[in-house]
Amino acid sequence: MKIQSLRGMPDLFPQDLERWHIFESKLSEVFYSFDTHEIRTPLLEPTELFSRSVGNSSDIINKELYSFLDRNKDSISLRPEGSASIIRAIIQKKQEHEKHKLWYQGPMFRYERPQKGRFRQFHQVGVEYLGFEEGVAEYELISMVLQINKSIGISDYTIKINHLGDAKAKESFCKSLVSFLSPHIEKLHEKDQARLKFNPLRVLDSKEQSTQDLLQSGPKFQDFISNESKNFLQNLVNTYSNHCNILIDQTLVRGLDYYTGVVFEAVSKGLGAQDAFLGGGRYDKLSNQLGGKDMHAIGFAIGIERIVELLNIKNIKSPKKVGFIVTAKQADQKTYKIADDLRSTNKTIILDTFLNDGSLKSQLRRANKNNCTHVIIIGEEELKNNQIIWKDLSEGGKQELLSPKEVIDKYINF
Ligand code: HAM
Repeated sequence: MKIQSLRGMPDLFPQDLERWHIFESKLSEVFYSFDTHEIRTPLLEPTELFSRSVGNSSDIINKELYSFLDRNKDSISLRPEGSASIIRAIIQKKQEHEKHKLWYQGPMFRYERPQKGRFRQFHQVGVEYLGFEEGVAEYELISMVLQINKSIGISDYTIKINHLGDAKAKESFCKSLVSFLSPHIEKLHEKDQARLKFNPLRVLDSKEQSTQDLLQSGPKFQDFISNESKNFLQNLVNTYSNHCNILIDQTLVRGLDYYTGVVFEAVSKGLGAQDAFLGGGRYDKLSNQLGGKDMHAIGFAIGIERIVELLNIKNIKSPKKVGFIVTAKQADQKTYKIADDLRSTNKTIILDTFLNDGSLKSQLRRANKNNCTHVIIIGEEELKNNQIIWKDLSEGGKQELLSPKEVIDKYINF
């Protein structure tokens, strides 16, 4: 029997990854301009790291964590997200007092029910700003989100934003929500009943219409947070509303327990049911929760599988590609040198070699199929006369007979 990959853990082939590479190259320019640096942490961590951060009452810990005992009988887990590991790493290095602007990228694992845009192994690019209190950092990160979307041509999206207050405000809102909903518990959907018991805040983003109707007359987060927090949120919205769709969504609580302060998500209708391609917020208490010193923290993570779906390839310049066709027999040594010289002359051009199977016609067909705009042709006759054909593949394009030096000159300025 043939072996299949695990459910929800797809292979990514070169054609799938084309969009990823465009995204990654644009992203690295944005990170560079924000002076944000990469950090890499292990895929496996002690299970306790996630139960103490993401939260025992969250879906991620209750149902979705890939956990197992290692040979030493210690419980270890595949990371479901990146923020907890990064805080753990900074605490371990005793760097909580420093400022850090970090980014990371890699696979995350959640045992969810796979569907379009939802996988069990998926990939995130995340950003964490550590050591910056509420203020400029929020502006900086929302600006970064806008820059990223702009750089890859995404314009049809909405940023939902909310303020969860400090830990105390969150707690008293939770209490009030529980006492409001408890008398109506029978009317709630089974799922919401469980949420009310284990993670009441999550009732707010219930998909059940009856729950949403009930919540209309329930307590509002805004009444539990300070005027300062409310103003801060409103100012953020005012600042960005000329540049993108941004709105305050009081039901936005996010699925991880560690947030306090500003939280946000970016959603796009183009994605269907799993419409959030980015989520984040402030989590100033996490360092303490994990045994570290006080450290402000705010960040976000992008779901790569989802954002690349939105990437507008039409607006992105395709790379220059030249086909290298050899029809001369036993010309390998000379042609190898020509290809090598061309590649060292201009590294921004893709030189598509190894087309040399079959006739000139079939190689030209192949070059066209591979999206080459030009080809270099080296035939028996040309090789003898130390000449090379340079051919423009566009309709009505010219063909020139050049010396190797002339081809190199053309290639430099191509
Ligand atoms: P999250 O909202 O759980 O936040 O995940 C961020 C993004 O990862 C989501 O918006 C979505 O695009 C993508 N994502 C999540 N689960 C899946 C899945 N099963 N399949 C495909 N994509 C998925 C976090 O993980 C936080 N650590 C973000 C953060 C960073 N907060 C502060 N710093």
